[in-house]
Formats: sequence, structure tokens, C-alpha cells
Amino acid sequence: MACALIVLAAGLGTRMKSDRPKVLHEIAHAPLVGHALMSASGLNAERTIVVAGHGADAVGAATKEFDETAEIVLQEEQLGTGHAARMAAPALDGFAGDAFVIFADTPFIRAETFQKMVAARQTADIVVLGFTARDPARYGRLITDGDRLLRIVEFKDASDEERAVTLCNSGVLCADAALLTDLLAALQNDNVAGEYYLTDVVALAVERGLTAKVVTCDEAETLGVNSRADLAAAEAVFQARARAEALENGVTLQAPDTVQFAFDTVIGRDALIEPNVVFGPSVTVESGARIRAFSHLEGAHVSKGAIVGPYARLRPGAEIADDARIGNFVEVKNAEVQEGAKINHLSYVGDAFVGAKANVGAGTVTCNYDGFGKHRTEIGAGAFIGSDTMLVAPVRVGERAMTASGSVITSDVPDDALAIGRADQVTRAGYAKRLLAAFKKRAGK
Ligand code: UD1
Ligand code: MG
Repeated sequence: MACALIVLAAGLGTRMKSDRPKVLHEIAHAPLVGHALMSASGLNAERTIVVAGHGADAVGAATKEFDETAEIVLQEEQLGTGHAARMAAPALDGFAGDAFVIFADTPFIRAETFQKMVAARQTADIVVLGFTARDPARYGRLITDGDRLLRIVEFKDASDEERAVTLCNSGVLCADAALLTDLLAALQNDNVAGEYYLTDVVALAVERGLTAKVVTCDEAETLGVNSRADLAAAEAVFQARARAEALENGVTLQAPDTVQFAFDTVIGRDALIEPNVVFGPSVTVESGARIRAFSHLEGAHVSKGAIVGPYARLRPGAEIADDARIGNFVEVKNAEVQEGAKINHLSYVGDAFVGAKANVGAGTVTCNYDGFGKHRTEIGAGAFIGSDTMLVAPVRVGERAMTASGSVITSDVPDDALAIGRADQVTRAGYAKRLLAAFKKRAGK
């Protein structure tokens, strides 16, 4: 069955107390609207329509990062979830199939749950996703008769008896697209909030002799983000899931609770992640690599058998090849470090190429920035960079070449050459003793 996805994302999210639209707040480095789109990706929607309002341009741009074919429609005034869904109707024109409505602030619904809804549509005209809430609070209540859903009552409009119901509305529903469009057009706003409630489509359908059903899921899946506290809770849910998934996939996490993943972190089987490692976006760690404690990685690729850290920082464009070593207090940015190369201590390597088996000594810096532009450093395969070498880019150190410790290298070093770029040492016998005596005298001691 062809399917269309309508994502409601126009609300401001007053309780976030933010200048940023709620759906652009991030969990694991992806905005809520991105998570909502990812959660429904298993539906393979033929059309995706995102209803934006507050910060529509920014919401549209963020949406396109996750689904470039998504259509953004505008809800200028936020007159309720039903009104928002109605805005999507023109974009559904000519579409035959089911439409799913989801909320952009509900990021974690599982693929299996959407599939359960697809299956339930075989026996009902409308399927609503519900959950049993530990604390039903202000959620809409699902009023059922046996396995038939009769209507949804918003908390504000509910009687005491209805408020006692713990089966709550997640906000997600699906129906035939043409039927849904028709029902949305019939919505009224004669309720306590004066809003067009999406939830009223159920009662309208039942009045017409159609059937509605509830599919339930775990409360953790329907977690909606309305406040900063909810955002923090959602981050925790995401991290718990990501850690469990990594373990399940054969990754060793020595202290799972201390590792932070991004929404798109990829880690191969038999990789080992030590405690307190933080993954920013776009990181791939291949099989058998080891990320040692307190390292921070983003936009980086770590190949098989490589060891990174402890206390390493890999920034975007760090390409660490098989069996390479990146040690403590080393920062690598936009640099290819080839097989078996070692940068073990206290170095900055940016806009660079480090050839296979090269050894970069402690305290080496690629001086890539002149205050204006960025320049490249090349270190040939098998080269030996002495400790505390400043490589003033653009510069190339040839294969198997060496630089002396403490050198400032400003011009290219040919293959197999040794470059020494530092002042000659001057040694004066007995001078230290004389100096000390002079200091003491001056201090009157
Ligand atoms: C809604 C449901 C409630 C359910 C709860 C689950 C309705 C009437 N109520 O209530 O039954 O238990 O979600 O979290 O549907 N939005 C728009 N335009 C609008 C209003 C809202 O795009 O005019 C979007 C928001 O950006 C948000 C979503 O719709 O992503 C839900 O809106 P929200 O105001 O949070 O609805 P709730 O009051 O939580
Ligand atoms: Mg809400």
C-alpha cells in the first residue's frame, strides 16, 4: 500500500522557553524533526509533507537535510493539530493510499510500531497509536468500547470519568488519504481550546459508520518533547537505545553509560570503546578499532585496528587508516593518516597528509593557518618528524626524511633528507654557577 507522511511541525513550543522553534532542538546532534522523519523512514513514504509555521524557513532547511524530497507547507496561524494536518491536503492531491500523521516533537516511534499500524489498517478505517501512560497528565484520552475506538477526548475537555482513563493518544494516526482529507475538512473548533483538533477525526468517522482501532506501543516510544526537561529525558532514551544497539551489534563498551553517541554513529563489530568517549556527528569506527578513554570524535573515520586516545580529538575530515595510532592530547583535523602511522603525543595535525608508517614526534604542530587562509602539510611515508617540529604550511617532508627536534620547517624536505631548522646550541662552561651567584648577590642572600 502506497503511503504518505504528514509531519506536524508548526508549533512554537512555548514551554521550551527558547528563541528556536521546538522541532529544531537537537537530540544526539539531530533536530527533533530529523528524528521524526528517521523514525518513519521504514514506511517508505511516497510523499512526505512537513507542516511548518514558527521558524518555517529554518525548519524547512533542517527537514531537507534528512529528506530532500519532502514538501514544506506553511501553517501561518497555529489553530490546532487538525488545522495543521489540513494544510497538507493540497499536497496530497491525486495521491491514492494511506496517510500517516506524526508529530515532529515525538521522535522515537519504532519501525515495528508503524508496521503494526499498517497491519491494523486491514481491519479498520482509522488506526490511532496509543499507549498506557504511567502519568496520563494532559494527554488526550482514548475512549474505547472493546477493541473499537469511539473518540479521543482532550484533557481540557474531558470529564472526571474520562480523565481516569490511562490509555492515551500518542498523536500518530493513519487512514486512507482521501478519507482523512475529507474528515479534516469537516472539523470544528467548538472546544475548550477553540482549536481544530486532529483527534476529532475519530468521532467524525465513527458517526459516519466507519471503524477506528488503537494500536499500542511502549510509553518510551511516544515520549513527546515539550520542555527542556523532556529534551534531556529524550536524549537519555536515545543514548540508552544507541548503547544497547552497539552492544547487540558486537561492540565492546567498557562503561556503556559514559559513552555518548550521535544519531548517525557507525561502529563495527569487535571495536572497543573505553569509558567517557563522545561521538559527534558523522563518525565511523571500523571493526577491531579501539577508542580509548576521554576521546572526542566528530566527522571522522577510524579504520580497522587503529587505536585512538586516550584524550584524543578527531575533528571533521580525520581519516585514520588501518593500524594507525593517535595518542593522548593529539588533535587531527581534515587529515589523512595512512596505515601504521603514529602521532602519539601532544600534537596538532590539520589539513595534512601523513604517509604510511611515518612517525610524528611529541609536540609537533602543522602550522596550517596564517590568519587568512589554510595551507597543507604533507609528510611522506616512513618519515620521522622529530619532537616539537613546527611544520609551516604549505610544506612537504619527503618519504623517509627526518626533521630534527625543535625544528621550524619552512621549506620542503626532499625524500631521505634530514632537515634541521633551529639555532645551533651554545654551551658555556661554569656559566650556570656564575649566574646563580650573581642572582643571589642581587637578592642580598
Ligand atoms: C496532542 C494531542 C493529544 C496527544 C498529545 C501527545 C491533539 C488535539 N491533541 O496534544 O491528544 O495526547 O498530542 O503528545 O492533537 N502543531 C502544529 N500546528 C498547530 C498545533 C500543533 O503544527 O496548530 C504541531 C506541534 O508543532 C507539535 C504537534 O503538532 O509537533 C502536537 O502539538 P501539541 O500542541 O504539542 O499538542 P498537544 O497539546 O501535546
Ligand atoms: Mg505536545
